[in-house]
Amino acid sequence: MRSLTIRRPDDWHLHLRDGAMMEGVIGDTSRHFARAIIMPNLVPPVVTTADARAYRERIVNAIPDGDTFEPLMTLYLTEGTSPDDLEEGKASGLITAVKLYPAGATTNSHGGVRDFEKAMPALERMAKIGLPLCVHGEVTTPDVDIFDREKVFIDTVLDPLRKRLPELKVTMEHVTTSDGIDYIKSAESNLAGSITTHHLIINRNAILVGGIRPHYYCLPVAKRESHRLALRAAATSGDRRFFLGTDSAPHIDPLKECGCGCAGIYTSINTMSCLAHVFEQDNALDRLEAFASLNGPAWYGLPANDETITLVRRDEPVDFPAKIETGAGTVTVFDPMFPLHWDVA
Ligand code: NCD
Ligand code: ZN
Repeated sequence: MRSLTIRRPDDWHLHLRDGAMMEGVIGDTSRHFARAIIMPNLVPPVVTTADARAYRERIVNAIPDGDTFEPLMTLYLTEGTSPDDLEEGKASGLITAVKLYPAGATTNSHGGVRDFEKAMPALERMAKIGLPLCVHGEVTTPDVDIFDREKVFIDTVLDPLRKRLPELKVTMEHVTTSDGIDYIKSAESNLAGSITTHHLIINRNAILVGGIRPHYYCLPVAKRESHRLALRAAATSGDRRFFLGTDSAPHIDPLKECGCGCAGIYTSINTMSCLAHVFEQDNALDRLEAFASLNGPAWYGLPANDETITLVRRDEPVDFPAKIETGAGTVTVFDPMFPLHWDVA
């Protein structure tokens, strides 16, 4: 196949940041994607509907002229989140989902939830009004190995929570393990999972073999090869419970290339080319549209986009910059370590 037209995709997990960084990266998303779920882990985080309204306005003002892009806002769940504020945010159409970061799980998550009991009033209200919970599914207890944090989270936090609140609609974000895939498949309802671009392409060797490579470090950290293959099989299967959430998470190079580097991989700019490559390799190009453009909106109860994009396979590799310059500094672009031939026309 040389060319593929699909409905315009959406990104169901995106870090746009704020200010100069946002201005530097937003065009890489709005060029291809019609909508994105915007992560609320700013400093300080987006915790109230009023915060989200103000952040949405800053995003809309930064969209490059000529692009149509709709930011879908989320709130950062804290132990003090007001159920009434959530309900108002949903009723006004502003809030699409609420994000749960276990405290300390990842970048800017220190204000996240420590004691789940304290977040129960908010979670109960969400279950009642049908507001989905997006979950960073990792425990943060120091005695749990970082490669096991997703599985332990499923067993000790997510499954008990879902049994207690079966009506709560949960998106397990950036699934990185076969355990996560199996858990989602085993659920009868109200559970789906997003998968990132990079987790379909790299395993943990990319970070650690032949030298330490900070630009492949993200959270949840990439796992061993068998897990990557399980993610590939789920993403390319067409199964409606799995969809794209890039987790594109820009950090300036000095914050990645240092003694204690930040987690996050920047993929907005070349995600569609990477995905076409992955789906072609797995003989599943006919299911790329389900993963990138159909399953996500269906899960969030939104219509698929009417517009389309066309991907073309070029003979010569497509040139993506190794780094982009933003007003906040230089950001390294995800290098899939193979040439990319698919391009968005
Ligand atoms: C994200 C970030 O930088 O905000 N980092 C990452 O590695 N994915 C946070 C997150 O989603 O975990
Ligand atoms: Zn993220």
